[in-house]
Amino acid sequence: MQSTPNLDQFIPEPLTRFAYQGFQESKKAFGFVHKLISDRLTNTVLPEQANKSQPLAPEIFEKLQVKLKALEEKDWQDAQQGIYPSSLLFDNPWSDFFRYYPEVWLDMLKIWQRLDKREFQSFDAAIDQVGYPKYYLQNFHYQTDGYLSDMSANLYDLQVEILFNGAADAMRRRILAPLKQGLQVFANLPPTQIKVLDVACGTGRTLRMLRGALPQASLYGADLSAAYLRKANQLLSEISGELPQLVQANGEELPYLDNYFHGLTSVFLFHELPAAARQNVIDEAYRVLQPGGVLVICDSMQAIDSPDFQPMMNNFPAIFHEPYYRNYTTDNLEERLTNAGFIDLKVENHFVSKYWTASKPL
Ligand SMILES: C[S@@+](CC[C@H](N)C(=O)[O-])C[C@H]1O[C@@H](n2cnc3c(N)ncnc32)[C@H](O)[C@@H]1O
Repeated sequence: MQSTPNLDQFIPEPLTRFAYQGFQESKKAFGFVHKLISDRLTNTVLPEQANKSQPLAPEIFEKLQVKLKALEEKDWQDAQQGIYPSSLLFDNPWSDFFRYYPEVWLDMLKIWQRLDKREFQSFDAAIDQVGYPKYYLQNFHYQTDGYLSDMSANLYDLQVEILFNGAADAMRRRILAPLKQGLQVFANLPPTQIKVLDVACGTGRTLRMLRGALPQASLYGADLSAAYLRKANQLLSEISGELPQLVQANGEELPYLDNYFHGLTSVFLFHELPAAARQNVIDEAYRVLQPGGVLVICDSMQAIDSPDFQPMMNNFPAIFHEPYYRNYTTDNLEERLTNAGFIDLKVENHFVSKYWTASKPL
């Protein structure tokens, strides 16, 4: 097992900061170049695709750069303050990235076919579709097999990093400070007794970060995709600490007792759910959290946060297959959280993401 030492113990701070900036810049450049080439190819093969998105004004790109810089600064500062070890800033599934990057290009051929035929519920015949909610059986982002194959799970982290120009992990890490702050209510408990569940854990990126920030806590992950859980299990086995317990489950019907967890997180799930399912997941989070327990949700920014970025929010579901995104961008999650019984609501924005923190009353 690979350990995650705190780099600050060995390397002077300016050097680590320089390395972090270089790391982020290289991921940004990689994502930018990849998207530039793939967009040009897509628009050449399927010229009608180009008309589906609104061109973005240069000021939007400038504003995005400013927000991205602020996100990276916050990421750096939170590590400096010990919310998580600096080594987490550099955590990346490198071997998978190199191994599966050619597959991302090969998969584009299949994506073009689906785009051309506007097929977004197409799955390999060998994939068992029984038992999943209907809203889930989609080729989200036009990706091959939706969330239901090992290849989809192998490509996912790489695709998300490209989509967000290397900022996906920095966005995910923004849940750690409010989570740890909320868990202060249980400061009298030994750290090993703290239980945190990540709903829709996917390939386990957030669980890796939770392990870094809460090295002794009992971690749990739930997701509907058996393939993504297999991948999560593989990637989480590489790091030190107890292996999180992973379970295949719908976030709307969690297989846990009432009042069980001290903390619950969910990252990039809500925009992929219809409105009723969003409320069900929030209600379930409330049920399984202990009194005093804290919920932290991370997802896309919404219309109310950044009117300037509205063209980007319009483009996202027009280019990628994201059937619930438009409704999500105007959904009032604060109201949903309050309806479920949560209190102490806090809302933050970082870069193109949004965070809700709420507690179950003691
Ligand atoms: C966009 S991915 C986010 C994954 C991960 N949280 C991350 O940060 O990358 C959405 C995930 O939600 C899962 N999912 C979607 N609907 C779900 C539901 N109702 N219950 C549990 N998991 C669900 C999918 O299988 C997928 O792994």
